[in-house]
Amino acid sequence: MKILVTGSNGMVGTELKKHLDNAFFFKHFNYPDLDVTNRHRTQEIIEYHRPDVIIHLAAKTDVDWCEYNPEECFAVNVEGTRNVCEGAQKVKALLVVPSTFYVYPGDKEGPYDERYDQVIPDKIIGTYSKSKWIGEVVVSEFKNMRHLIVRFGSLFGGGEKDKKFVSKVLRMVSSGVKEIRMIDNRFIQPSSVKDTARNLLSLIEKEGEGVFNMVGHGTASYYEYAKAVLEFAGVKDVKVIPINSKDFKETAPRAVNLSAVNGRLGEMGLDLMRDWRIALKEYIEEIKSQTKPYA
Ligand SMILES: NC(=O)c1ccc[n+]([C@@H]2O[C@H](COP(=O)([O-])OP(=O)(O)OC[C@H]3O[C@@H](n4cnc5c(N)ncnc54)[C@H](OP(=O)(O)O)[C@@H]3O)[C@@H](O)[C@H]2O)c1
Repeated sequence: MKILVTGSNGMVGTELKKHLDNAFFFKHFNYPDLDVTNRHRTQEIIEYHRPDVIIHLAAKTDVDWCEYNPEECFAVNVEGTRNVCEGAQKVKALLVVPSTFYVYPGDKEGPYDERYDQVIPDKIIGTYSKSKWIGEVVVSEFKNMRHLIVRFGSLFGGGEKDKKFVSKVLRMVSSGVKEIRMIDNRFIQPSSVKDTARNLLSLIEKEGEGVFNMVGHGTASYYEYAKAVLEFAGVKDVKVIPINSKDFKETAPRAVNLSAVNGRLGEMGLDLMRDWRIALKEYIEEIKSQTKPYA
């Protein structure tokens, strides 16, 4: 199987490359060698390599940055995705596009299951999530193209590639703070990037198509998540203080209660995601053995 990856130098791409190196013939590209907003160049590269599968990871993913830069965010996450779709359709490749569980409204009791819960476009919160949803719509409009849309949870992992929650908490610790204030009335689904990459490849191998949730098991408030990071990192002299979201100033608005289940993966016997605490503990033990990964 010949695989082409866009946006390969990011958090997910770096993890995927470790698996792809052993098992597949693959080509990977990152900005600026392949800028997916450049329609001509995107088609040229796809038509030259003629992959069986395209894993399209190129995206603007910083939720706060997207809120301030909606045009650039939509240019990459929507128009860039359209360009990749056109290429995939021409060479008859399966197109794999990660999305996010943030497309769900996050206002219901209990988890979202992709088999029964619909996305309600008017209820999607924030520019990043809207751009990912419109990207999903664009993909599904290419009727003669096989596609796999996978809604990830909030990822952790990747060591120096991690720009998300775990690295932010550990960087605060490295900077010497003794108190960290974290929201305790908003819930997410932390998910290991290692599990996600492995699970994504197994789904591709089993020729999964359509829309799938792929999230770590279990939910956490940001407060619980930060406490677990410090506990597993062995940090005892930093206090996590629970606060209410209304007392916290944020750039991008976020959903209140986001949790999901991997309905279709479970049905296919392909849910390889682990409980977030188990995977987080393993990840932090791995990075603890490195010299000051977040110094
Ligand atoms: N990380 C998460 O928590 C999470 C959660 C849900 C879904 N996802 C989705 O998973 C996918 C991969 O995410 P990730 O965490 O690996 O993101 P990431 O670390 O931000 O990586 C994205 C990559 O895309 C590249 N890129 C940006 N603009 C580009 C362009 N115009 N053309 C080509 N490449 C471009 C970036 O390059 P530069 O660094 O040079 O800008 C970066 O290497 C994305 O679709 C994201 O929406 C991620």
